[in-house]
Amino acid sequence: MEKRNPEIEARLQRVFDGARFGHPCYAFEEVTSTMDVAHQLVRQGTPEGTCVWTTRQRQGRGRFGRTWESPEGGAYFSVILKPARSAEEIPQLSLVAGLSAAEAIRELTRLSPSIRWPNDLLLEGQKVAGILIEAKDGAVVVGVGMNVTTQPTALPETATSLAACGAACDPYTLTAEVCRRFEGWYDSWRTEGFAPIREALRPWLSHLGEVVRVTLGTTHPVEGQAVDVDETGRLLLRLESGAIRPCEVGEVTFLR
Ligand code: BTN
Repeated sequence: MEKRNPEIEARLQRVFDGARFGHPCYAFEEVTSTMDVAHQLVRQGTPEGTCVWTTRQRQGRGRFGRTWESPEGGAYFSVILKPARSAEEIPQLSLVAGLSAAEAIRELTRLSPSIRWPNDLLLEGQKVAGILIEAKDGAVVVGVGMNVTTQPTALPETATSLAACGAACDPYTLTAEVCRRFEGWYDSWRTEGFAPIREALRPWLSHLGEVVRVTLGTTHPVEGQAVDVDETGRLLLRLESGAIRPCEVGEVTFLR
């Protein structure tokens, strides 16, 4: 494993302050991807709640095999979970984490990001955070990437950072707040299912009522009005024909 950074670990331990998520915490100055380190730790039997955190990633990754640019100024971390739930329910964790991150940002900065189903947080129409879920070896690794004090010039054109939107916030405190909220929502998801998350999520969804296109790889894109997220976390589109089409995975683009 790459070399841990005790100073960063101590700083994070202070802000995690006894929470279950974040213990243990493995912190690094730089890694390939916190997802790689997390999967390695899963194989070594690390407990649920383990967090892997870094200030930079050499090969940060996003959904659909994309690169996640991970320069200095971001908070990049993965949390290891071991939920006893069916494989079909696991994608809901992307919305559970997104909700937690949106709430944490609002709490600490007063900025109110929107959630673009199923895994993006947007500010001023640009991406400020993304969530990645990978299930392997009996665990689920939830990766969260947040652009905190990042210079916009170091980010892709479609991305922004909290600082660029006028908010001062430090990546350590923000990580701890996301984890604290994630822990709470995760417990509620485990005991009560997706219903409470769905209720809490609705006000944050940027596209409800909007006409959108949902694309998945090379399959034919679907267009329609986003009307809701259903009881399993699928995005519901009202097609021109009036029919309701549930989307399980995909990427949303706003059309007008
Ligand atoms: C996406 O928007 O497609 C998801 C981006 C997820 C990025 C985070 S940063 C921490 C963790 N490590 C990675 O390599 N990816 C996730």
